[in-house]
Amino acid sequence: MSTLLVVFVVRQTRRVQDRHQPLTDISKAVEVHPSPISGVSTAHEKMSVPPAPILFLLSTLLFAYTQQVSVSVSPTVLAKSCDSVVVQWSGIESPSRLDWLGIYSPPTSSYDNFIGYVFLSSSPTWQSGAGNISIPLVNLRSNYSFRIFHWTESEINPKRQDHDHNPLPGTAHLLATSEEFRFEMGHGPEQIHLAYTDRDDEMRVMFLTEDGGERRVKYGEREDDLGDAAVARVSRYEREDMCDSPANESVGWRDPGFIHDGIMKNLRKGVRYYYQVGSDSRGWSTIHSFVSRNSDSDETTAFLFGDMGTATPYSTFLRTQDESTATMKWILRDIEALGDKPAFVSHIGDISYARGYAWLWDHFFNQIEPVAAKVPYHVCIGNHEYDWPQQPWRPDWSMPIYGKDGGGECGVPYSLKFNMPGNSSEPTGTRAPATRNLYYSFDMGSVHFLYISTETNFLPGGKQYEFIKQDLESVDRKKTPFVVVQGHRPMYTTSNEYRDTPLRERMLEHLEPLFVKNNVTLAFWGHVHRYERFCPLNNYTCGRPGMNGDDWEAFPVHVVIGMAGQDWQPIWEPREDHPKDPIFPQPKRSMYRGGEFGYTRLVATREKLRLSYVGNHDGKEHDMVEILASGQVLSASNGGGVFDKAIGNSEARSDGLESNNKYTFSWFVKAASVLVLGAFIGYVLGFISHARKENVSKNSWTPVKSEET
Ligand SMILES: [Fe+2]
Repeated sequence: MSTLLVVFVVRQTRRVQDRHQPLTDISKAVEVHPSPISGVSTAHEKMSVPPAPILFLLSTLLFAYTQQVSVSVSPTVLAKSCDSVVVQWSGIESPSRLDWLGIYSPPTSSYDNFIGYVFLSSSPTWQSGAGNISIPLVNLRSNYSFRIFHWTESEINPKRQDHDHNPLPGTAHLLATSEEFRFEMGHGPEQIHLAYTDRDDEMRVMFLTEDGGERRVKYGEREDDLGDAAVARVSRYEREDMCDSPANESVGWRDPGFIHDGIMKNLRKGVRYYYQVGSDSRGWSTIHSFVSRNSDSDETTAFLFGDMGTATPYSTFLRTQDESTATMKWILRDIEALGDKPAFVSHIGDISYARGYAWLWDHFFNQIEPVAAKVPYHVCIGNHEYDWPQQPWRPDWSMPIYGKDGGGECGVPYSLKFNMPGNSSEPTGTRAPATRNLYYSFDMGSVHFLYISTETNFLPGGKQYEFIKQDLESVDRKKTPFVVVQGHRPMYTTSNEYRDTPLRERMLEHLEPLFVKNNVTLAFWGHVHRYERFCPLNNYTCGRPGMNGDDWEAFPVHVVIGMAGQDWQPIWEPREDHPKDPIFPQPKRSMYRGGEFGYTRLVATREKLRLSYVGNHDGKEHDMVEILASGQVLSASNGGGVFDKAIGNSEARSDGLESNNKYTFSWFVKAASVLVLGAFIGYVLGFISHARKENVSKNSWTPVKSEET
């Protein structure tokens, strides 16, 4: 018996005295997709009861077998993150669809503590017992290795599941271990991202390295003359700073590297600067460029969204967000189209969705670098960066709201990997560094942007409330006619997000009066993974839009923009008298709600702010609202052939707000003939959009999984 269990390890080849049968019938047992978790889930649903221990022991004794499996990797030194390694294997005698490739970093990690895994059946030749897979990986500042395991349907452990309720792969039968491979040292820093500081003539750049040695940022107005330089401040955090599992356990913790924070100073206004980060001894990054802020310009361009997450080329313990790559792709398109105009990104919470699995932050920053190295990447805190059981501010009413969504990170990676303007912070109450990047503001062009935290104290008497109040009251509306507030959990949503009701009630009681009194133009929220735009609102009541020369009430327009990547969508509110039927009427205050992933694009001048919702499926606008500096809200098709944006308005405004065609466009309509023509076109388009509205609405009403817990 003991002989059967001895495992002889030879480099690249393992001779295994397996404890289980060859499972020659596996291929016909169930149909399992080669793609990882979803396929396993299918198998799990169809599988029979696990064998009793006695049967397992008998099978171990009766069906032990020996096989030679080899595995190799190429190359063994990767230049930079997102480069691919090809893994090749052969010699699997009785391949199973569930045989899998474990990705380990460091290579000494225990079997269960993989970074991720890929099923060998994703290779077309897997049934021959040989194949190869190419996997792009990110630099985790530690060596990698692969392990190949044999796994079968009968071994699925229904109690050991990932976050998506798919079973995690079994590690009972190791077939082979690859040699180690690594990323090249001295290739220069990675994970570069920019941010505004409190000064108009500065730009912050943050990046990551494997050691704490000095790094600098070199910059200048010409790519071939980076004559200015600044030394970056360096920081890091430790496993002991994590507050809960999995962040502080072996399964989730990995060395986070060293975080560098440099500031480029004395920048001229609205000029393209080139820069690179690193050191002569440890290598330099490639040269990136950005356009500096221009306080003399009225123009504002921003790309805003929440809840994006990151994509991984493998399955792991958590669901990752494949759609996030499309969000970045389209925003990069828009940034490149801007040429030498400045812009920035606003990601309003639930950022990487790492939730205690450290390497997901590395994937995230590599994924956003093509955008974040070009334009400032601004953030506010979400539940998935922060919430943990001992968080300091957790009033009785918030007990069901603030749970364990941060995976034990307690805001530490968020606080150190970003450095936003202002100096807001709250102690963690542990040895962990204080939580920062909570509330701050800055101007860009004609818009004042205010960021708030819905995860820490926002009630009167607290520091944040005082900041919000003072900030809104001190805005110079001559300089910035528009004011935009952003936070993670929504003040308004028509989704079935009942868990947050006590928090929403307090936001409505204490924050909404500040917003209304100070004429906030737009309020953006995330957390709900949908796009939803409301009418100008005060206490659930639509304001008067001010048509036909009437006065208007300039209430804030609330927009939920948590549709950038996370795909656990909340359902809309069911009918009160039919709570179990999948029909979710759209309340009249809700102007438009969309089911597509995407982001919003905000473009403003001194006269007008235009917000549009871009769908990831086609890169086109699907909703639009225009707001004048006076606060008057226009909402219309741009006449350019994109009619979807008008869908929500004409129908939803049947609550007393009149249709688009009746808006006063006198500020730009110069001739009566244009009005007549516009009315005719509007009639035709309204007819078309009505039909489309019905289609879109039907799609939107599909009940799906509820918000994560
Ligand atoms: Fe959230």
